[in-house]
Amino acid sequence: MAISDKNCYINPHAVVDDNVDIGEGTKIWHFTHVQSGAKIGKKCILGQNVNVGNNVRIGSFCKIQNNVSIYEGVELEDYVFCGPSMVFTNILNPRCKYPQVGSQFYVKTLVKEGASLGANCTIVCGHTIGRHAMIGAGAVVTKDVPDFALVVGNPGRIVGWMSEAGQRLNFDKEGQAYCERSKKKYQLKNNFVMEIE
Ligand SMILES: CC(C)(COP(=O)(O)OP(=O)(O)OC[C@H]1O[C@@H](n2cnc3c(N)ncnc32)[C@H](O)[C@@H]1OP(=O)(O)O)[C@@H](O)C(=O)NCCC(=O)NCCS
Repeated sequence: MAISDKNCYINPHAVVDDNVDIGEGTKIWHFTHVQSGAKIGKKCILGQNVNVGNNVRIGSFCKIQNNVSIYEGVELEDYVFCGPSMVFTNILNPRCKYPQVGSQFYVKTLVKEGASLGANCTIVCGHTIGRHAMIGAGAVVTKDVPDFALVVGNPGRIVGWMSEAGQRLNFDKEGQAYCERSKKKYQLKNNFVMEIE
């Protein structure tokens, strides 16, 4: 990989394996390891002690806080925020004596555009986190999370909805809510939220 001609910042204490693609303007801080086959988009920030596993795909404009491991089988779309020390997984039933090593065993997790995963939360593998969903600090996600949902607790439950800009959505009796910050209107219908303007 030619890092220098892409205007990236790679801290001298980071380890970037061969065969890695890192987009323009991305910054990679101390003790972070990016493994072979990984592809990271532009203008991402990977904090201290982050691990990006083999063949992992990370979109652009993502922020990965300190101490996060993104294992093979996890994919992050653009603008995904991973809070400090949050945890991904890629094997559902790990046993040392019956190891499951290799891509064929890894259970996939997709985090869609704009989702935020709070500090110290855990995402049990095999689930999709919807667009602009917000996972509260310390939550344990055991199911798919719909777009714009706010999930807290263990097991994680939907306790509300948040706009693209991270404001709580208070729906009127027509099921509509307006967010001053994102300047967008949202519709709640059948327990799903979508942008309407
Ligand atoms: C989930 C979150 C977004 C909710 O924020 P909020 O809308 O301002 O919610 P409030 O603080 O008003 O709390 C509402 C209720 O939810 C509870 N609550 C808030 N966050 C919670 C969490 N992470 N887990 C469990 N319960 C939580 C509160 O105790 C409160 O309960 P109550 O109604 O019984 O008193 C926020 O608390 C959170 O966890 N943010 C993530 C922070 C983070 O990890 N940042 C990383 C970058 S440093």
